[in-house]
Amino acid sequence: MKNSIIIYYSLTGSTQIVAYSLSEFLHADIVEIKDLKERAGFKNMLSSGLDAIREIKTQIEPEKIDLSDYDLIYIGTPVWASKPSPAIITIIDKCDLRGKDVILFATMSSNGGDTTLKRLSDKVKARGGRVVESFALETKNKSENEIINDTETLIEVLDLKMYR
Ligand SMILES: Cc1cc2nc3c(=O)[nH]c(=O)nc-3n(C[C@H](O)[C@H](O)[C@H](O)COP(=O)(O)O)c2cc1C
Repeated sequence: MKNSIIIYYSLTGSTQIVAYSLSEFLHADIVEIKDLKERAGFKNMLSSGLDAIREIKTQIEPEKIDLSDYDLIYIGTPVWASKPSPAIITIIDKCDLRGKDVILFATMSSNGGDTTLKRLSDKVKARGGRVVESFALETKNKSENEIINDTETLIEVLDLKMYR
C-alpha cells in the first residue's frame, strides 16, 4: 500500500471537512497549511480574491513539508475568484513532487472549480508531479454531514482507494 498524505488549506472549514474525511476513509496522514495573512471577514475577501487572481505568494505555516516518505499526495484548496488559494499556491512551489502521484480537490460555493483544478494541475506538473485524479465539491448551504457524505460518495465514484 502507498503512503499517502493530505495537504490542505481551509479558511472557513469546508475544505477541512473534506480533507479529514479523505484522511479517515483512505488512512492518509494530514497536514493543514495556515496562511499567516489575515483572511477572515468580509473586508479581507476582496484583497484575498485579488491575491488569488494575481497568484501573490503568502506567508504560510508550515513553510515546507518533507514528502520523501510519501508516494501519493492529496492537495486541497477552496476556490477563490475561480483560482486556488494563495496558501496552496505557495506550498506547491516549495514541494518536490518528482515521482509523486497527486490527487487534487477543491471546494467552492458554486463555480470556478474547473479553472482552479486546471491551474493546480499545471503547477503540480511543473514541480514534477503526476496528477492522477481531481475533483471539485460544492459546499454552499451544506451541513458538515452532507459534505462528509459527498466526500464518501466521491471516494466510491472515483474509486480513490485504487490509488493507495
Ligand atoms: C476570497 C474568496 C473568494 C471566493 N471565490 C469563490 C469563487 O470564485 N467561486 C465559488 O464558487 N466560491 C468562491 N468562494 C467560496 C468558497 O470557495 C467556498 O465557500 C469554499 O467551500 C470555502 O472553503 P473553506 O471553508 O475551506 O475555506 C470564495 C470565498 C472567498 C473567501
